[in-house]
Parts: sequence; structure tokens; C-alpha cells
Amino acid sequence: MKLDERRRKLLKRTFLDYQQTSAFFEHPLVINRGKGLSYWDVEGKEYFDGIGGIFVASLGHGHPKLMEALRKQVETLSFAPPMHGVSDVTLDFVERLAQITPEGLNFVKPYSGGSEAVESAIKFTRQYFKQTGHPAKFKFISRYFGYHGATFGAMAASGTGQRKTPFEPQMPGFLKVFPPNYYRDQFSSWEECNRFCARTFEDVILHEDPETVAGIIVEPIGLTGGIITPTVEYFQILREICDRYQVMLIFDEIITGMGRTGSMFAAQTFGVTPDIICCGKGISSGVVPLGAMVAREDMGEAFFGPVEDEINFAHGHTFAGNPVACAVGIAVIDEIVGLGLDKKAAQLGDYLSQRLEELKELGVVREVRGRGLLKGVELVRDTRTMAPFPELGQTLKRTALENGLVIRIDPTWFAVAPALVADKSDIDELYLRIRKSLVDALDRLS
Ligand SMILES: Cc1ncc(COP(=O)(O)O)c(C=O)c1O
Repeated sequence: MKLDERRRKLLKRTFLDYQQTSAFFEHPLVINRGKGLSYWDVEGKEYFDGIGGIFVASLGHGHPKLMEALRKQVETLSFAPPMHGVSDVTLDFVERLAQITPEGLNFVKPYSGGSEAVESAIKFTRQYFKQTGHPAKFKFISRYFGYHGATFGAMAASGTGQRKTPFEPQMPGFLKVFPPNYYRDQFSSWEECNRFCARTFEDVILHEDPETVAGIIVEPIGLTGGIITPTVEYFQILREICDRYQVMLIFDEIITGMGRTGSMFAAQTFGVTPDIICCGKGISSGVVPLGAMVAREDMGEAFFGPVEDEINFAHGHTFAGNPVACAVGIAVIDEIVGLGLDKKAAQLGDYLSQRLEELKELGVVREVRGRGLLKGVELVRDTRTMAPFPELGQTLKRTALENGLVIRIDPTWFAVAPALVADKSDIDELYLRIRKSLVDALDRLS
């Protein structure tokens, strides 16, 4: 699409997330309508939303049941004052979310997005240890390539160098290890590589002093490193390490939650229960800002005591637990559970993998990975040397939009995550648009 002068001027007066405005000017997208799996730009051109709005529109855009839940709640109560009361629908949401999380994770605190959920998990864990006899436990170990949010704590846990440099110094107490894909070519098998990488968490804990380490934070499937998908054993080892040293295992499920990987949460897909899950994105299907921290119930109980103790979680947000957001969240859960969309994501995800594997015919795909309807494709210059091909990804950003396709493209990989309401014909359409966009990009580079 072309940018008119007015929009160009307005874009110069605002910020786009994590991207340069002049780069955006080269392939702009200004959207003014969305329905199901499609967007329309201001010129009326249709785009296939191959990334569920950025892992958000789990039920597609403008889902009628969500619109109805929103309308009803707005007409009843649209705000409750968090320091003076709580809305009844917020309690309903607490109950409903706890029904779909792994057993034992029943302590729910709703927020307005992913960064808030992660920030809260960090503060909650630190305060928990301070008031349960381990005041020196304050460090967190996470991974390079990981992304946990834009606020200072979540950013410190993130391992995305250039996104963090402008804001140095970072918060102290955050350590990193490498995710398995970083070393994969140095091991004879993916399983062995995963075992090695999982054990590096223990090495760091031991060298830091276990009595100073509070938590491990990981995305079960890491987006920013290119849909890094560890083995089940990787998570089992992490669980054992956390149990051994009394360290909280925190899963950032802001992308992987809400049915995306074939279960309600990736914790269930991988069969490993963390101590805390952070939710966001798909939890409201993008209708309203919503996130949540879900912790072990006994951790929550450490914050109760006699009134004289004055113990409370010293944390809050004005819009946390907003009634409208909670009403929509309940409707999203009801729809996913009611239609079994998590299980459907597993089956349809197999079909999506099959189709994406066909892209290997083009000679520039190293690997298709992911679980359920969260898939990543790694691009290479040729499949003999496996050398990265960032120019292809850069060109693909342009050809995808020309072909009416919105997906997440990092120069060396791209990710797809269609809405869970997609069907087989949507997957075919998505595949055709990806293939055409890749072929066009390769033509342009030849
Ligand atoms: C894995 C992960 N964690 C946390 C966040 C932060 O969520 P939000 O942008 O809603 O604050 C994101 C956002 O992209 C994410 O992908």
C-alpha cells in the first residue's frame, strides 16, 4: 500500500513497536478492519493474518461471542476500583482460568498484558522467598534469545542484546544461559544437545550459590530465537533442578498458552508443571488488553496471615482485573474448551507442518519446527552449508505484504500461528501465500 502525506506525518509523530519508522515507510501497513483470519488495509486490500495478530487473535478477529461478552459487560460494569473492591466477574475469571491450568496452579492474578504478568512473577517470587525464610534468593536465570517483555524486570530477563542496549544498565540479578539451538551443530543429536543445555542451568545455580537463586524463567517454545522447540526431557531436567535447589520454575506462556501448542498450556504439551505460568496475548483474542500470572496456590497462601502482620503483595495496576477484560477472557476460555480448539490445534498443526515441509523443495529451508499451530521455518542460503540467508527474510517482508500475507519474519526465520479457528482450507491458503511470497523473494534476489 502507499502512504498518504497525512498518515506519513502522523507516523512520524508516534512510535511503532521495535521498528524504525523510515523502514516501515518502505513497506507500510495501515489496517482499518479485521474479521476472522483477514485484515483489510485503508485501501481495501485483504491480508491473510498468518500470525493471529502476533499470537493474539486466538479466535480470529471480531469473534461474535467475544463481541457479545464485551457488550454485555460494558453495559453492566466496565470498571471496578482495585484498591477499594473487586468486580464479581474478575472472581469468575480467577475460577475459570484456574480450571484450565495444570493442577495445583490455582492462584490467579489478572493483568493487562504479558510484560505486566512477567514483571509480577518476578516481584511475587522475590517477595515470596523474602517472607518464607530465604531472603537472599533474588536472582533469575533465563536464556539468550528469549523475550519476556518491555518493562525493566521483564527486559532484564530477556536475552535480546540490541533491544536492551539503549537502556543499560539493566536491573541486576538476571543471568543467562544459551537455548539448545545455539549449540545444536556441536552435538550428534538434538536430544544430547538439549540435555547439555538444560544442565547449564544447574551449573549456574551452583556457581552463584543456590541460596541466592530465586527462579528460572523460560518460554517453553522460544519465539525470538526462531521457534526454539526443546525436547520433553529438557523441561524434565529443568523441573528436577528447580526442585533440588528450591528455585521457582516460571513458564512464560504468553505465546504458547491458550491452546496454541495442542493443549491449553505448553506445560501440558510437554508434561512438566512449572510453579508459575505467565499468560497474555491469546487470552483475550486481542479484543481487550489482558494477561495473568498463575502461581501455585501454596505460594499465594504465603501472602495471607493475620491482619497485624500487614503482609500483602506490594504490587498493583489500575487496570489489573478489569471487568470487561475478564469477561472477554472467560468467553475465550469457554470457546476454546467448548470446541476443543486446543486438541484441534494439535491435529491442524500436523497438517500445517506437512505443508510447510513442502517448502523444502525451494532449497532454502533448513527446518520446520514448533508444536500445534505455532510453527517456525528456518531459512538458509543452501541446504549443504546451512549458511543463514538474512537477505531472503528481508525481501520476504516485502513480498509477503505484496501477496496479502502477514507473518512474523526475522531475517533468518519466519513464524506462522494462524487463529485456532482456522480450518484445512485456511492452512492451504496460508501455505500458498507463503510459497508465492518466498518464490517472489528468491526471484528478486536472483
Ligand atoms: C514470550 C513473551 N513474553 C512476554 C511478552 C510481553 O507481552 P506484552 O507485549 O503484552 O507486554 C511477549 C510479547 O511479545 C512475548 O512474546
